[in-house]
Amino acid sequence: MNKPLTPTRTLEARYYTDPAIFDREVSGVLSRTWQFAGHVSLLENVGDYFAFQIADQNLFAIRGRDGEIKAFYNVCQHRAHELVKGTGNCRVVVCPYHAWTYELSGELRSGPNIKAVPGFERSDICLTEIRIEVFCGFIFANLDPAAQPMAEWFPDVEEQLRAFVPQIDELKPLEWVEVTERCNWKVSVENYCECYHCAINHPTFATGVVRPETYDIQPQGYCLRHTTECQNLDQMSYPIDLDANAHAGDYSSWYLWPTFSFQVYPGNVLNTYHWRGLSVDEVVLWRGWYTVGGAESDVIRKLAIQDRQTTVEEDVHLVESVQRGLGSRGYRPGPLVLDPDCGVNSEHSIRALQQWMREGVDG
Ligand code: FES
Ligand SMILES: [Fe+2]
Repeated sequence: MNKPLTPTRTLEARYYTDPAIFDREVSGVLSRTWQFAGHVSLLENVGDYFAFQIADQNLFAIRGRDGEIKAFYNVCQHRAHELVKGTGNCRVVVCPYHAWTYELSGELRSGPNIKAVPGFERSDICLTEIRIEVFCGFIFANLDPAAQPMAEWFPDVEEQLRAFVPQIDELKPLEWVEVTERCNWKVSVENYCECYHCAINHPTFATGVVRPETYDIQPQGYCLRHTTECQNLDQMSYPIDLDANAHAGDYSSWYLWPTFSFQVYPGNVLNTYHWRGLSVDEVVLWRGWYTVGGAESDVIRKLAIQDRQTTVEEDVHLVESVQRGLGSRGYRPGPLVLDPDCGVNSEHSIRALQQWMREGVDG
């Protein structure tokens, strides 16, 4: 006899509200996964650098004399002063504390009076390097030296993304939109990864960009791939040239577990999501918008504003309400709506995502 099926339940509230679980994620899953560092256009010339943060670690990326980009922990190997701030260009990296000087490749080059130290081996000292990958012009870093490459985590994504955004190597950021949400980073990510809520909460997106009845989200390695057809041209909220290339009329997005997503709107318009959890109940979301060479574009600027005022704003209210609800003593984790046929009104993507979230915390 078949056992009666029991619905899969959503994660318990403590995963989103317990500061100890957030700390475990910072030292665990967020330190062992590929995280967005910055766009390659910040490092056009030898010696260009930018500082960034992953988990709770200060880091920086820099273009070396051989043209290669490397990234390091942002800390001097003398007495731990931080080396760089923000963005800039340098010939060598000079520590502001006692002026130890490092090559762009991380080796110690010189330091005041170090020759006076008996047994001082300059060649023993080097900045601590971290793993990076440049993925279609986006620099990702991973604090785990043994991490699998991005192509294994996110199979076929690069090829698919290049087909949807043929101009991707020429893109530069035109606009960054920063949004603070009073919720756990996973609440915001989950909200992004299902469209069960779209029809009643996102009228502009659902009637002016995509056709919700064709929306689907499927796992592809540690990526969640969103696909849908777009609205009829006359209903689109901005103009597109459908003949430009094969995917000019398509929408798709590739959410890369855990904190980044590439999203392409019809017209091959690339935009990105980058979530940075600041504490157990606060996340900053960065929306990036890109054009060829970073050229000014009225259409993209308007689209960024439309998106901020509609979809993003609508989601802020949803995720902040959920976070308050997760703190309620009256909440019991509910069943996920898992439709065997998937589709827009199914939460099968949440089941995959919460599996990764569980593994991220419980191992
Ligand atoms: S801490 Fe950097 S030179 Fe002393
Ligand atoms: Fe949403």
